[in-house]
Amino acid sequence: MEKFELEPKLKEEVRARTFGEGFMKLVQTVRRNGRQFKIALRPVEIGGVRKFQAEMTDDGQVQVKNLDAKGAAEGLEEIIAQKGARDLHLLTATGDLHVRVTKKGHVLVSRSAELARVAVTQPHDRVKNLPLTSFDSAALLKTIGLTDRDGKIRASMRGKYDQVNDFLKVVAETLGEASGDTFTVVDCGCGKAYLTLALYFYLTEVKGFADVKVVGVDRRADVIAAAKKMAAQLDVADRVTFVESDLAAFTLERADMVISLHACDTATDEALAKGVEWKARYILSAPFCQHELHKTLAETGGKPNLPSAPFAGLLRQSILRERLGDILTDAFRALILRILGFKVQVIEFVAREATARNILLKCEYGVKAGQPGPVGEYLELRDFWRVTPWLETRMGELLQRHLARFV
Ligand SMILES: C[S@@+](CC[C@H](N)C(=O)[O-])C[C@H]1O[C@@H](n2cnc3c(N)ncnc32)[C@H](O)[C@@H]1O
Repeated sequence: MEKFELEPKLKEEVRARTFGEGFMKLVQTVRRNGRQFKIALRPVEIGGVRKFQAEMTDDGQVQVKNLDAKGAAEGLEEIIAQKGARDLHLLTATGDLHVRVTKKGHVLVSRSAELARVAVTQPHDRVKNLPLTSFDSAALLKTIGLTDRDGKIRASMRGKYDQVNDFLKVVAETLGEASGDTFTVVDCGCGKAYLTLALYFYLTEVKGFADVKVVGVDRRADVIAAAKKMAAQLDVADRVTFVESDLAAFTLERADMVISLHACDTATDEALAKGVEWKARYILSAPFCQHELHKTLAETGGKPNLPSAPFAGLLRQSILRERLGDILTDAFRALILRILGFKVQVIEFVAREATARNILLKCEYGVKAGQPGPVGEYLELRDFWRVTPWLETRMGELLQRHLARFV
C-alpha cells in the first residue's frame, strides 16, 4: 500500500457510511502549495428523488453538481483516491468518522462515540442560499458571460450575478413548494437574457418542473439574436425561445408566470397588463425608469390641481418630484393589480447599495377582484393627485367595470 493511501478496510467503511442509512455529509479538505481545495458531498432531494450534491470549493470559487447514485459513487472513489495531506470528515446520524492524512503520509483515524442524530435530507434549494450555486450552473454562467474562462465571476458582472440570484430567490419564495409538469414563463424586456436562461435552468434543475418553457421578448434585434445563440449553445433552444417584438404587439394564450426585470418606463405596465390578460398566476416585476407620471407632476407643479398646493415645495425639486413619481406609479400599479384579483407585495429584491431600482412587485392571483378596499384606496389616491396612471388606461374595460361601481 502506498504512503497517503487509505487502508482497504477504511475505504470500505467510507463507502458503506456514505451510501448507508443516516448519511449526512462528507467533507474532504486538501491543502497544497498554500491553496485549499474542498469537496463536500451531501444527500439532497430534487423533485422528490434522492440525489447527491457535490460542492467543490477551489480557492474560494464554488461549483455545485447534482449527481445520481452512480455519479456519486464515482465521485466518492475520486475522493478516496486523493493523494497528499488531507482531512476527511464524514457525518452520519449514528456518529462521525474523521480521517487525517499528515504531510508525512501517516493516516490517523478517529471515530465519535455512538450518536442518535436525525439525518434530514434537505430539499435541494435549502442546501445553499444562492440559487445560482444550488445546481451545476458552470456552463450557463460561462455562456451568458457572467464568468470568465476559469469559472470566476467577472468583476464587471458581479452586480448582474447578484441581481439574478436575488430575483431567483424571489421566484423560489413565490413558488414555495409548488412543482409540477408544465410551466410557462414570459420574460418581458429580456435584454441579454441573463435572467431568462438562468430561470429556465433553476426551474428545471432546482424546482424540479418537468416541462418548462420560457419565452424572452424584447424589441431589440441584436439582443434577441445573441440570446437565441446562447440558448442553442446550451442546447435548450426548443425550451427557451426568444421573440423580437414590442411587448404591446406580442400575443400569447396564457402563461403561468410573467416576469420583467427593469423593463423601461411603461414596458413594465405592459408586462403587468400582459400578465393579467394571459391569466398568469404569478407576476414578478421590477420596474425601471418612470417618465409617464413625472411629466404630469411637472406640468401641474403641485399648484393648480391641489387644494392650497401643499406639495409645491416638494414638486419644485426635480429629483424629489421624480422619486415621488416613481413611488406613486408603483403604488398605482400595486393597487390596480389588487383590484384585478392579485395578492400584491411591494418588496426590495436587491440591496439598496446595489441599485436604486430595487423595488419589485410580487403578485399572485387568487383574491376576490373588485374589493371595495383597494378600489377605494386607488380612487382616493388617483383623484387626490388628479392623474390618470398609464396602467389604468391600458387595462381599459377590465379595470373600469370595477371602478365604475364606486364612482
Ligand atoms: C434595462 S434593459 C433590462 C434587460 C433585462 N431584463 C435585464 O435585466 O438584464 C430593458 C430591456 O427592455 C427592452 N424593452 C423596453 N421597452 C420594451 C418594449 N416596449 N417592448 C419590448 N422590449 C422592450 C429594451 O430593449 C431592453 O432590452
